[in-house]
Amino acid sequence: MLILNAEEIRSVFSMKEAIEADKEAFLLHSRGETEVPVRISFSVRKDDKSQFMPAFVKGDINRVGIKIVSTFMENPLRGLPVVTAQVLLLDPETGEVCAMMDGTEVTKIRTGAISGAATDILARTDAEVGALFGTGAQARSQLEAMLTARKLREVRVFDKNPDWIRSFIDRVAPMAESFGAKLAEASSSDAAIDQADVITTVTTSKTPVFDGRRVRPGAHVNGVGSYTPNARELDLELLKRSRVYVDNREAVLAEAGDFLIPIASGDYSSGRIAGELGEVLDGKVQGRTGPEDITVMKTVGYAVLDVVAAYRIFTKALEQGKGRELQF
Ligand SMILES: NC(=O)c1ccc[n+]([C@@H]2O[C@H](COP(=O)([O-])OP(=O)(O)OC[C@H]3O[C@@H](n4cnc5c(N)ncnc54)[C@H](O)[C@@H]3O)[C@@H](O)[C@H]2O)c1
Repeated sequence: MLILNAEEIRSVFSMKEAIEADKEAFLLHSRGETEVPVRISFSVRKDDKSQFMPAFVKGDINRVGIKIVSTFMENPLRGLPVVTAQVLLLDPETGEVCAMMDGTEVTKIRTGAISGAATDILARTDAEVGALFGTGAQARSQLEAMLTARKLREVRVFDKNPDWIRSFIDRVAPMAESFGAKLAEASSSDAAIDQADVITTVTTSKTPVFDGRRVRPGAHVNGVGSYTPNARELDLELLKRSRVYVDNREAVLAEAGDFLIPIASGDYSSGRIAGELGEVLDGKVQGRTGPEDITVMKTVGYAVLDVVAAYRIFTKALEQGKGRELQF
């Protein structure tokens, strides 16, 4: 079994490769070449839970894998993160676990790459200005993905906690500069989206994080956070003005308050969702129809993305002799 930590994962797998892996996952999923059971969740005690997210990806990949994600609220007292994760990949010949890797890192890269793929597929090619909402654990890879997909000259960063905007910019400015982009503190959500061409929301907000009426025609929006039925980052106005796409129709309609709340009030219908990203990649659903379209992609994520990314990471690590072998 090959063991890979976060640093080893990063050293063999670029954001560009992660975006290609996510596109492959979307395509296989939309073509029915995956099996994804509903995730299993155990409430271990009070707010602490362990979740098991398996998937079988067929086609050339032909791999079963699982991500185990635990949320343990008192972990910081032990010097550990609240959310920890590992991904296991199985050998298709023997069924044995052939790789175990840092699932937190896989999640960050593949989740950034969801937005990267959506931006690549749906955003205008002449996009210049980005806006990023949220400066937490997922924010850096979201920014990297946005900059990988489009040549942006500026990205405005907004968080409800202003102190976190500055410290985030200090941490990630060198990465943004390596793409030729400058980062700016946004003083309000309105200031962040003013004239923005690509907007990514990656927050834990329960209510919409910006005013959908103010989004400029031609913009593309990635909705990444808030995946529970009672929480939403995107408002109804935005959905009504946009061509709307999702990573996984079934999962989004089961989990995302962005849709479930306006559907329950009778203000929106699932029939208005244009399609999945995989269907656009497959040529079955049209993407952007013109420069004035506003496009929205909402993701809640699913295990196929983890398994495809893990498989690509494993293959590259073997080629490059990275990681440590463990024999039982
Ligand atoms: N779609 C997927 O596959 C996927 C994968 C992983 C995480 N997520 C989701 O992404 C979100 C962010 O995850 P994280 O680990 O970075 O969380 P985090 O707790 O580390 O950071 C969340 C950030 O959002 C900010 N925020 C909250 N409300 C805001 C508002 N109204 N306006 C601006 N900023 C606001 C917080 O201040 C914080 O900086 C979560 O909802 C998580 O569940 C989605």
